Amino acid sequence: MKSTIDWETSVPATADIEHLKPHLEEQEQQQLIEKIKDKLTEQNAVLVAHYYTDPVLQQLADETGGCVSDSLEMARFGKDSPAEKIIVAGVRFMGETAKILSPEKTILMPDLEANCSLDLGCAAEDFIPFCDQHPDHTVVVYSNTSAAVKARADWVVTSGIATKVIEHLSAQGKKILWAPDRHLGKYIQMVTGADMLLWQASCIVHDEFKADALLALKHKHPDAKILVHPESAYTVVEMADVVGSTTQLINAVQNMDAQTFIVATDNRIFYKMQELAPDRTLIEAPTGGVGASCTMCAHCSWMAMNSLQGILDVLEQGHNEVTVDETVRIKAFESTQRLLDFAASLKN
Ligand code: 13P
Ligand code: SF4
Repeated sequence: MKSTIDWETSVPATADIEHLKPHLEEQEQQQLIEKIKDKLTEQNAVLVAHYYTDPVLQQLADETGGCVSDSLEMARFGKDSPAEKIIVAGVRFMGETAKILSPEKTILMPDLEANCSLDLGCAAEDFIPFCDQHPDHTVVVYSNTSAAVKARADWVVTSGIATKVIEHLSAQGKKILWAPDRHLGKYIQMVTGADMLLWQASCIVHDEFKADALLALKHKHPDAKILVHPESAYTVVEMADVVGSTTQLINAVQNMDAQTFIVATDNRIFYKMQELAPDRTLIEAPTGGVGASCTMCAHCSWMAMNSLQGILDVLEQGHNEVTVDETVRIKAFESTQRLLDFAASLKN
């Protein structure tokens, strides 16, 4: 089942993003950074940023005792942090997850319009009746969903742990209703052999990586290892040496015995990869197939809506607070906390 979305109006055009993010002069940028640092301290606030955000924001989060990570660690960090206020530089579902887990904290986002095609492709009003039609299935949703969808789910998972959760449920003989990412769902199905009914949404950034163009690139760099985020199509995933969450791909660059890596995910991840493994050669996986032009060009336009100015504005004005209806939040908490408990049990 798939919702119809008018991408023309839902997706911010790259040109608009460039307009929203004029290249700041270095001095101006430094002034913004200093002001943000002061406000974070004054307000007992912490900055939590995803690897796909502007490297300037990632650096700022690191320098100020915040966190730069994948969506699983963002959720964990926000919950465990003693800060009263969490600034989430990422997309909407990440802000909502922080609120679901920490209702007592103030959660602010630089831009509340920063969305995700997976979240948009799985509207609660379509998803809930679909679940009701399959009462014998355990409902597992990817964290890239709204609070209302999480509230209907039995489990929330992230890409870093999804396969292990499905293995665990499948071993108990459970049938799975999976949403919303059809590519991640298919990948997990192939790895685990689980009985899975798949919702049919996808990530419009990872959808652009194409196997034919990747094969041509691999011929030019035969020794390169291919790293793929599982939101990519299965034909691309099949070519990978490593398939994993953003953190797992960064770990691969640090730890694998190889010099060159072709990376199929949002290219802002290169900042962290280069910082942690400066001697490695990183090559962007091609987008849009052989000879075609890309729309997203391996960078999520919604992630690009996070800016220094946006962070300062929310700290100064207290606007863009993320709210979640309390009845929905209580239900979404159960399925999201199950994820954190499961992740903790794997560490023990
Ligand atoms: P990660 O959990 O791997 O960081 O993925 C989140 C995401 O939105 C990838 O597109
Ligand atoms: Fe959503 Fe894809 Fe952007 Fe991640 S990269 S936030 S999955 S649209």
